[in-house]
Amino acid sequence: MKFTELNLNDALMKAIKRSGFEEATPIQAQTIPLAMAGKDVIGQAQTGTGKTAAFGLPILQQLDKHHKAIQAVIIEPTRELAIQTQEELFRLGRDEHAHVQVVYGGADIGRQIRSLKKTPEVLVGTPGRLLDHLKRKTIDLSQVQTVVLDEADEMLDMGFIQDIESILNYAVNRKQTLLFSATMPKPILRIGEKFMNDPEVVQIKAKELTADLIDQYFVRVKESEKFDTMCRLIDVQGPDLAVVFGRTKRRVDELTRGLQARGYNAAGIHGDLTQARRMTVLKRFKAGKLDILVATDVAARGLDISGVTHVYNYDIPQDPDSYVHRIGRTGRAGKNGISVTFVTPNELGYLRTIERLTKKKMSPLRPPTNDEALHGQLKQAKSQIEELMQSDLSKYGDDANELLENYSALDLAAALLKSLSKDNAAKVEITPEKPLPFKSGRSHRGHGRGHGHGARHGHFDNNRRKGRGKRNQARKSGRHDFVIKKKHKA
Ligand SMILES: Nc1ncnc2c1ncn2[C@@H]1O[C@H](COP(=O)(O)OP(=O)(O)OP(=O)(O)O)[C@@H](O)[C@H]1O
Ligand SMILES: [Mg+2]
Repeated sequence: MKFTELNLNDALMKAIKRSGFEEATPIQAQTIPLAMAGKDVIGQAQTGTGKTAAFGLPILQQLDKHHKAIQAVIIEPTRELAIQTQEELFRLGRDEHAHVQVVYGGADIGRQIRSLKKTPEVLVGTPGRLLDHLKRKTIDLSQVQTVVLDEADEMLDMGFIQDIESILNYAVNRKQTLLFSATMPKPILRIGEKFMNDPEVVQIKAKELTADLIDQYFVRVKESEKFDTMCRLIDVQGPDLAVVFGRTKRRVDELTRGLQARGYNAAGIHGDLTQARRMTVLKRFKAGKLDILVATDVAARGLDISGVTHVYNYDIPQDPDSYVHRIGRTGRAGKNGISVTFVTPNELGYLRTIERLTKKKMSPLRPPTNDEALHGQLKQAKSQIEELMQSDLSKYGDDANELLENYSALDLAAALLKSLSKDNAAKVEITPEKPLPFKSGRSHRGHGRGHGHGARHGHFDNNRRKGRGKRNQARKSGRHDFVIKKKHKA
């Protein structure tokens, strides 16, 4: 559908054009008119299909520029995602001078308070920091018309639900609630509906839950052989930009060090790093100055980094929804992507559970041999040399001649290839993680849903302890009637 059919104002049409969007995506075409009509909407569509603009455009269109108050709040599960959403809404609202601000944990609150004095019309934030400001009375949500829960299933899950309820209680005059996510488990959907007024549910029907553009593979491998296998696969596949997901923070640290030792340009991101460090790593990755981002599930949801060609699940996610989001970091906005999930023999049950949720079978991939890996590396080295050949090499002439007097051209070329390839002999030890508990692969969808999400939230907004307390509370009160399983801390 053309954006011109959506009755958006001229300023927004200009921003859409500038962004290079030609047609509205299906989720945008179906939810924008509903949201502009003031309806409550639950929107579910595959990763990378433009859900941010689907809620962002109607919000920007409906702003009352003469009213100096926060009119819309968008709640995001991670700091990075809050920043990204603020940036996208700022870009889209630039021509109508919309004032969009972001608040998140791990950053100087004094500075946030000072800039909040200018009263943004749209506020994006993480739950913990939003509540912090609300308690300090440094934000006023009483004039808020629209609240968005992006990654809604995550926001309504155990770790966040009470924070969300508290925030909603401050938005006393709220007229509209919008829920968006690529995954929407039924029990969570029902929780969401409690906060909504006769919501319209828009589910973009796709054959598969995962983005269509991602080719999904798995490799069966022993825990002790995983790291070498992944390195060889990276050599063979030669990703432009890759994200490697690990289950725990220790895992991410070890994988990062291991990849660096082997000569890969990698850096890690997880919840124990300072916010400044997290932002630096992400910025370098976005700018293409890093080839591999190693991450816990903190980077699984929502992040939109163009150019990610490969996602490697070094550890299989325990939670099928998390799989959908993780691999959704590639195959975005019409581009293709590849995902590879490493599975140890006793984790095959998890693989089948994931396939049942996504309605898509992963193709088995044979681990590459050392020779294939070397061949892959040399192919990349040769293309690097070709690039070098295009550059100005004149100032190296004299020294090159000197080398040619002592060595043959053949040996020199071989030495160059060697220096450009990676050191796959570097010994790397990755501490084995306790395998996931055995799963037969025969359990049904609906079982084991929504489990243990609280464990993931610690790194999102400094509310780890609170999150855990709430989870126990939720369990006692029996409010969440689906299975809760303990998950390793990301
Ligand atoms: N109509 C459009 N045409 C082309 N590109 C678009 C369009 N709408 C959004 N995009 C771009 O597509 C990319 C993905 O959008 P977005 O991050 O909103 O996806 P999403 O559906 O929220 O994904 P996720 O489920 O991973 O959060 C962004 O770079 C965005 O700018
Ligand atoms: Mg999104």
